[in-house]
Amino acid sequence: PQSDPRSFIENARRGGYAVGAYNMHNEETTEALLWAAEQADSPIFMQVGRAIIPHMGVARAFEMTRRIAERSNAKYVIHLDHGSWDEVLEAIRLGFTSVMYDGAHLPFEENIETTRKIVEIAHAFGIPVEAELGKIPDADETVNWEDYYTDVEEARRFVAETGIDYLAISVGIVHGVVPGLQQQPISIQRIREIKAATGIPLVLHGASGLTDREVQEAKAAGVHKFNADTDLRHAFRAGLESVFAQGDRQLEEAMAEGRARMVDATIEKMRQYGCAGKA
Ligand code: G3H
Ligand code: 13P
Ligand code: ZN
Ligand code: NA
Repeated sequence: PQSDPRSFIENARRGGYAVGAYNMHNEETTEALLWAAEQADSPIFMQVGRAIIPHMGVARAFEMTRRIAERSNAKYVIHLDHGSWDEVLEAIRLGFTSVMYDGAHLPFEENIETTRKIVEIAHAFGIPVEAELGKIPDADETVNWEDYYTDVEEARRFVAETGIDYLAISVGIVHGVVPGLQQQPISIQRIREIKAATGIPLVLHGASGLTDREVQEAKAAGVHKFNADTDLRHAFRAGLESVFAQGDRQLEEAMAEGRARMVDATIEKMRQYGCAGKA
């Protein structure tokens, strides 16, 4: 059975660490994440996100994740990442125990209004809601980082008026990693200000590409959930490439190497976030 996401985050807040949330992409990556959680004795958010949904739909992705998770010994939660209104409702119906509604593209007042309705529905089912304020840019954009920062006063109002459980913030992070581009450090000061204004646990998306120091400082400033995808996807891919570099090989051999490398990369994240040993 799925664990209670609120206890994951509450334990992390009390213990001064963060829990990782990672995107599944197929059978082997789902196994890799869960095996890492077992081996590192770590709680884990298994995320159904933006890449898998157009590929196989929310229902199939959920069922695959649940089937594999149920035969593992991991302490897991199945979480919808960056959900639309329809996807959140579908996820609640399917049995997700944690959802993110992403209205960051909406005008502020509309984001408040829609998020508030989502919270009302999700809470009626006992499901906590993560929501986003301040758009998180993609790595390929040439961005003026500060244009994307979550505004502190807006964050205060957003949290007070919507009743969300966790807030995903934009503080200089990007989805993906920027090859060859010098990313500015994230703003730890802004994290502290948002934390002081809202009082709720914060979520840092785009955690791939952060330095260890940024991760440690973000935790101390109030981040208790990190979303990481790209670094783990790259580890899986490197495993595939290393096998195919040896010539024409079976897909299974390549998948097994990808999975093994992703297990190692995920355990490394769990140690860095501090959730290893906390299951
Ligand atoms: O994107 C969906 C709508 O904004 C949901 O709100 O209850 O007004 O349809 P509604
Ligand atoms: P990265 O791919 O940069 O790790 O971001 C993952 C993420 O935020 C998923 O929601
Ligand atoms: Zn994200
Ligand atoms: Na990133």
